[in-house]
Amino acid sequence: MTETLAFEIKKTKQSRLPELDTDNIPFGKVYSDHMFVAEYKNGEWNDLRIEPYGNLSISPANATLHYAQSIFEGLKAYRSKSGDILVFRPQANAQRLNVSASRMCVPQLPEELFMSAMTELLKVDSGWIPDKDGTSLYIRPVIFADDPYVGIRPSETYKFLIFTCPVGAYYSEPVSVKIETKYTRAVAGGVGYAKTAGNYAASLFPAVQAQKEGYDQLIWTDGQTHEFIEEAGTMNLLFLIGDTLITAPTGDSILNGITRNCVLTLARDWGMKVKEERLSVKELISAMETGELKEAFGAGTAATIAQIRRIGYAGKDYELPKERPLSQKLFNALDKIKKGEQEDKWGWVYKI
Ligand code: COI
Repeated sequence: MTETLAFEIKKTKQSRLPELDTDNIPFGKVYSDHMFVAEYKNGEWNDLRIEPYGNLSISPANATLHYAQSIFEGLKAYRSKSGDILVFRPQANAQRLNVSASRMCVPQLPEELFMSAMTELLKVDSGWIPDKDGTSLYIRPVIFADDPYVGIRPSETYKFLIFTCPVGAYYSEPVSVKIETKYTRAVAGGVGYAKTAGNYAASLFPAVQAQKEGYDQLIWTDGQTHEFIEEAGTMNLLFLIGDTLITAPTGDSILNGITRNCVLTLARDWGMKVKEERLSVKELISAMETGELKEAFGAGTAATIAQIRRIGYAGKDYELPKERPLSQKLFNALDKIKKGEQEDKWGWVYKI
């Protein structure tokens, strides 16, 4: 257990919890009663506090609004059958936040601060952790530049917030995706591996075009040749070709997904052949044509294990097999580990 730092805790006078409809929770639209806030100034994180969830007041010249010096994370807490609060791999998120911070010139956030802030916030808002199947409490830590300055340099002040939302599924059904070969999400030497705001903003226009064509999401290809599969923006991608599970190696342009890492760990533990290798669009199309592609799915915190039902490329749609035993097995195993219903061999679950 991480030692708890001292925070000021100011509780809401009127909880909104009675308004929560746990049978119908849309993703990312309902926020718990409180949030954690810390301020970075003069080279230190200070003013640590938990306060009622609410709007912030920022300058119109706020550096983040103009230049997107902002990083975030996403993780989930679950309520076990015995009532415990279980958080899935929070230390991995704390560490990745600092990887993003280095790339974006954001100050490092001590892991102890991340863990204590999250722990205290979850204790205060424990009533918001839903326990129905397919639900969880999504935790969103974010750090953003707070200088009011219309000039380009790293900000000298930052805010670190954590807020939480009870959520249901991000994708409620298997998704239809299009291989994108015109627009680029990330390039070598860029910020694709960082969980930073601009990556998501840049993906919107191509994603909206694909949605107009009837797809839910894009499969991004490498920015240089558009010949190799990368990730989907909301999730990493994995393909079962023959008996081998293949995913793109992480690097400059691909997020080092925590769910991706869990999937690879489980698959290896089950004795499967696993390759972290570049998969070309040509190889993928050929595997779909010959029927060697057995399954394709995404892996992400919000998306969990998101099965893919159709892949579009160059005006042609390829329907994938409707039987998807591997992704179903992975989904079930992860779901059980997260809720403390299956042995946690790798120490992934953090009990509050
Ligand atoms: C997550 O999976 O936590 C993300 O941040 C992705 C976003 C699409 C919600």
